[in-house]
Amino acid sequence: MTTETRADAPLLEVRDLHVEFRTRDGVAKAVNGVAYTVFEGETLAVLGESGSGKSVTAQAVMGILDIPPGKITGGEILFRGQDLLTLKEDERQKIRGAGMAMIFQDALSSLNPVLSVGDQLGEMFVVHRGMKRKAARAKAVELMERVGIPGAKERVGQYPHQFSGGMRQRIMIAMALALEPALIIADEPTTALDVTVQAQVMDLLATLQSELAMGLILITHDLGVVADVADRIAVMYAGRIVETAPVHDIYKAPAHPYTKGLLESIPRLDQKGRELYAIKGLPPNLMDIPPGCAFNPRCPMARDICRRDVPPLYEVSPERRSACHFWEETLHG
Ligand SMILES: Nc1ncnc2c1ncn2[C@@H]1O[C@H](COP(=O)(O)OP(=O)(O)O)[C@@H](O)[C@H]1O
Ligand code: SF4
Ligand SMILES: [Mg+2]
Repeated sequence: MTTETRADAPLLEVRDLHVEFRTRDGVAKAVNGVAYTVFEGETLAVLGESGSGKSVTAQAVMGILDIPPGKITGGEILFRGQDLLTLKEDERQKIRGAGMAMIFQDALSSLNPVLSVGDQLGEMFVVHRGMKRKAARAKAVELMERVGIPGAKERVGQYPHQFSGGMRQRIMIAMALALEPALIIADEPTTALDVTVQAQVMDLLATLQSELAMGLILITHDLGVVADVADRIAVMYAGRIVETAPVHDIYKAPAHPYTKGLLESIPRLDQKGRELYAIKGLPPNLMDIPPGCAFNPRCPMARDICRRDVPPLYEVSPERRSACHFWEETLHG
């Protein structure tokens, strides 16, 4: 957490982003006006149930969206003030890797199975920095040490399948860090790992983020992991941001019923045996999002206006927004 390094100019600013998927069954509106900002050196956690548009938004930022069937139908993605959506593919490629990098959930399918880890890490330096093989290999070992892989010198020639899941995830983190990008997007980076390994990998990511003062977007469906790591949270539902706030404000008192439901679904060690509140119902079909507030069919507080008017992002405080007509009641209730 490095809120003190927060500069005035945002590192990344997503503005009113819209993404659709045109499929045989119809048009799925996956992202419907998402806006979020990440400052230099800051960690933003993006939270929401599966299917809420977290990954699609990230893919649009990275320029790796599946087009077609995907299509960006509106919005801007400003990286250090430059709109990425207006860039040519080769200009975009330069920003990927050196400017921003992504860590995926599944290291095994993201790493190349037939190249040694040292070759894959070294490749970054050969391609982007024009280094010779030997120097690049030394850099690879250095990176492996940095992400806590024991015996890096001996293991640099091994292949991805020879490493455990946790170690592979560390290798992916090393790949992402190689060129010291200003922004890292980690999309559910620990979801596929055992619980104890999850905590270790999350600790590593948080430590490196703060040492290198990188901007980090941490995508997760698990509110439990973000409290110690994030500066701010953006909660997504049906392709929209429904609440955004400094992390401590959200834990103290959520200003949106959906966030409240997510918080009450976290298992707590000190309350064993307590019935877990799970948000009832399912997220909406993105081909047929309900009118008004998309959360209304599942919301315990829904009233007539919720079924009619889409709630704007109301200002709760200068640092905080909620897309709920009844945010005040939620906050104080
Ligand atoms: N390649 C694709 N083809 C068709 N639809 C897609 C594709 N990728 C994503 N979608 C649609 O976008 C929705 C949001 O996906 P995603 O951003 O991956 O959700 P999550 O919040 O779980 O990361 C999905 O539920 C799906 O309807
Ligand atoms: S706007 Fe209405 S339906 Fe939506 S979250 Fe608020 S109270 Fe619930
Ligand atoms: Mg996802």
